[in-house]
Amino acid sequence: MPLPHWEETPADLPTAIREVKTALRKQIAASGRTVEEVFAVVERKVAAEVADIVAAKARGETVWPVISYDDIEAGTVSAADVALLRRRGCLVVRGHFERSQALGWDAGIVQYVEENKFFENYRGPGDDFFGSVGSKPEIYPIYWSRAQMEARQSDRMARVQAFLNNQWKHTSDGVQWFDPERDSLYPDRIRRRPEGADSAGLGTHLDPGTLDLWMTEAYQQAFRHLFNGDVEKYDPWDAAYRTAGPQYPGTTMCSAFRTFQGWTALSDMAHDQGVLHTVPIPGAMAYLMLRPLLNDVPDDDMCGVTVNQVFPADDKWHGLLMEALSGIPDVQAGDSVWWHCDMIHSVAPVQDQKGWGNVMYIPAAPWCPRNETYAANVREAFLSGSSPSDFPAEHYERDWTNRFTEADLNETGRRGLGLV
Ligand SMILES: [Fe+2]
Repeated sequence: MPLPHWEETPADLPTAIREVKTALRKQIAASGRTVEEVFAVVERKVAAEVADIVAAKARGETVWPVISYDDIEAGTVSAADVALLRRRGCLVVRGHFERSQALGWDAGIVQYVEENKFFENYRGPGDDFFGSVGSKPEIYPIYWSRAQMEARQSDRMARVQAFLNNQWKHTSDGVQWFDPERDSLYPDRIRRRPEGADSAGLGTHLDPGTLDLWMTEAYQQAFRHLFNGDVEKYDPWDAAYRTAGPQYPGTTMCSAFRTFQGWTALSDMAHDQGVLHTVPIPGAMAYLMLRPLLNDVPDDDMCGVTVNQVFPADDKWHGLLMEALSGIPDVQAGDSVWWHCDMIHSVAPVQDQKGWGNVMYIPAAPWCPRNETYAANVREAFLSGSSPSDFPAEHYERDWTNRFTEADLNETGRRGLGLV
């Protein structure tokens, strides 16, 4: 019996949740093991990783793997470092860019927004996801500065993205699901959080999708090993069926397939100044996907996941995972930070922040059918200086001077936007 699936957001969410949960439970039970037995296998594996992370923290070790850009460029990353990257699913790339280059980009952004009178014309947060109180924004809804585009199309960015993409299985069953050597330059915003800032941070959540993760045919195939009880075969690095299917629209959606989320530091940031945290266990996705099928969760509830809101992870349903939440180490301007697209993450709160907290969000979004489709929209937004369609329609840059232009694109930039 195929699973019921909805290629568009179901009109009646509680009914659809009940239906899909019943079908998933039945399909798992057909494997000869109950949902509880299958979940226990996942829980044991995840618990071992949590224990390892908790112990590493207790020993005062940095949980996040750190690899130098020079080793990535030279192809000299050790097997042990690659193994740790794959185990933890996250990475700091030291010296991804020269510190002076990153500080120059930060200054360039300031000049770009000031000469175009951004602060005078700022209309407040365009969404409530990153919304913060105060007249000056911390998230700049700016996409097309020279700094951002130079970083996106740089050889150094392309090299790191290819290195990260290649941690994934991109070809299987005779299909190349994505091209690890070509990025689609997913445009995102900038964060500049000033010295002295108080910030509530951002709660633990994940970004790959919402109810569509259980309900569309493509995701049901992507998570087939979880949904047919064969959990030992689930591989969080397998891109099969993830790069073409539909997603339910919503204000928090990401149209692109990202192997890793990421940002590049434009200022030095100490580890205790409201920085990014993850639950550094890629396989925890199995836990997150199966947890709603246990009997203590109401039949019409997916552990709080619903459309148009980020996928929440919390103590109520995922207490075990929360113990592993781990922050990045100190970073310098020019370092970059990456985490597997399915991993739980948060931004810690900070009071009276020391130093700036400035980043450019640049993920790894390799070329695939989904990203090729979105690239058509990105091209149009780039040429007109508009906000890309995944983001609020603020369009600040349309008539700005000194925007990065088509003539400034290099080969990587043109390939990334689908112009060649
Ligand atoms: Fe997020």
